[in-house]
Parts: sequence; C-alpha cells; structure tokens
Amino acid sequence: MKNRNFVSITDYTKDEILEILDLAEEFEQNPNQNILEGKVIATLFFEPSTRTRLSFETAVNRLGGRIIGFSDAATSSSSKGETLKDTITMVSNYADLIIMRHPLEGAARYAAEVAGVPIVNAGDGANQHPSQTMLDLYSIRKTQGRLNNLKITMVGDLKYGRTVHSLLMAMSHFNPTFDFIAPAELQMPEEYKMFCRNHHIPYTEHAEMSDISDADILYMTRVQKERFQDLMEYEKVKNIYTLHNAMLENTQPNLRVLHPLPRVNEISCDVDDNPKAYYFQQAKNGVYARQAIISKVLGVR
Ligand code: CP
Repeated sequence: MKNRNFVSITDYTKDEILEILDLAEEFEQNPNQNILEGKVIATLFFEPSTRTRLSFETAVNRLGGRIIGFSDAATSSSSKGETLKDTITMVSNYADLIIMRHPLEGAARYAAEVAGVPIVNAGDGANQHPSQTMLDLYSIRKTQGRLNNLKITMVGDLKYGRTVHSLLMAMSHFNPTFDFIAPAELQMPEEYKMFCRNHHIPYTEHAEMSDISDADILYMTRVQKERFQDLMEYEKVKNIYTLHNAMLENTQPNLRVLHPLPRVNEISCDVDDNPKAYYFQQAKNGVYARQAIISKVLGVR
C-alpha cells in the first residue's frame, strides 16, 4: 500500500479497509507517535472545511510530521490562473503527500495522475469523500460492534452529498440494507442505485422521514447549498428534514445518529444530549481514521 493514492473508496479492498480501521483503533489507544518525523504533508483546500482539514492536520501533528498548504484557494496562485496540474506538480516538489479538497468531481483522480507523490482525496465536488467514509465506518463498527447486516437510513441531500456516495460503496462489502429518504429533487443518483442492484443490496426510497424504527444507523446530511446552480431550488428544499429528539423515541436501542457535519437545520439541538446522538464523537474519530490513512499511504507502519 506504500505511496498509494487514496482517491476513491473503491480503490481499496475489503481487507484493506478493515486493516485501516484496525490501525485507527491503535491510534485511538496511542495517538501520539513520532512516525512522520521528517515528512512534509501538504493540505490544499480549494473548498471550505473545518473538520476534514483540521483533523488531517491534527493527525499529522500528533504523528510528528509537518504541514504546509492553504485553506483558501484565493490565497494560492490558482487565483492568478495557475492550473491544477501546475499547482500539483509544484507542490509535489515540496511535500511527501498531498491532501486535497476540490469542487470539481474527478479533480483528485486527475491530481493523482499528474502528482509525483500520493494524493489523498479530501472531497471532490459531489463525487467522493473517502476519508470521511473511513471515519464513518470506524464510528459504525465502534457503536454497533460490527459492520455486517446493518440497516442504514440515509436522509437529506443524497444527490450532491459525497459522503453518502462513498459510504454506500464501502458498505457494499458488509451486506447492508439501505433506506434512502430524500425529496424528488435530491434523490440518490441512478448510478449509485444501479451499484446497489449490481451488488444485490436491497434499498427502499421514501420522501417522508416517517418510519425510522428499524434503522441501526440514521445518517443525516446537509442540503449542499454550494452545489445548486439555482438558489431558488435550494430555498425550496433547504429545511426539508429536521430530526427532533421526540422522533427518536420508538427507535432501536442500538440506533446511532450520524452526520458528517456541518449541520444547518437537519438535527435540532435537542438531539445533542440524546445517547443515540453520535455526530460529535464521529468527527473526533476522524483524527484516528486519518492517522491510519496517512500512515498506510506513506507506508510508515
Ligand atoms: N465532514 C466534512 O467534510 O466537514 P468539513 O466540510 O468541515 O471538512
């Protein structure tokens, strides 16, 4: 796995995914290790981020590496017209690994083709967010005690939400059942439903969040305002689902509410103190999952 890109979750086998999860468990037990000494990691964020960038940077810091990069493309020479190819070629000269978020689908794959160092995809448009998926899998396994045979209800913007796309593909290794809850405008794209059919994964689709009583995981998502061409369309659906504490009353005891965050109005603050709310711990798990990804990609374990 040394010097290997981490662009799509489908680039990794089930065994490799489980290996990364096991490593993340080790990092949770022992997060401060000096295994990245002498390594420089670049974080190139062409789109805003709080959790992904800061948890990657925390991961590097806790492992003794150094960080360069930018959190706002306006402060980079891409604002002067430099191409992505030139930016990636240049940064390959400075860093041992590039972690990149970009608004264009496929940007990470393209970067991996031109880079002289491994690329970790920190989100490419509405396409994939594989490092989020690793922390999601870690959180699911930690709270459920297993990954196999779970009912996962995905709610919200299933069209533009890259986290649900990556998670769906990763869960295909673990015999899941999905319930997709979205308005007509934001349904799970056909390519992912076809993926389910091709992998014999049962799924149902609903427009109402009426029955979540048999879910093991309730995966809430934000409506991705930044992906809408027409903000009037966003206004129509922006507050389509809000989870309130009372709605968790008749749910499974093992249910956990996940959300990649940031949330806007999808989860009421009255859910935060419910023991079934797991989204803040989920984000914390991002440090361990990302420590595992970086160390595997660089082959320092
Ligand atoms: N989950 C996630 O990607 O959050 P950020 O946009 O804050 O990085």
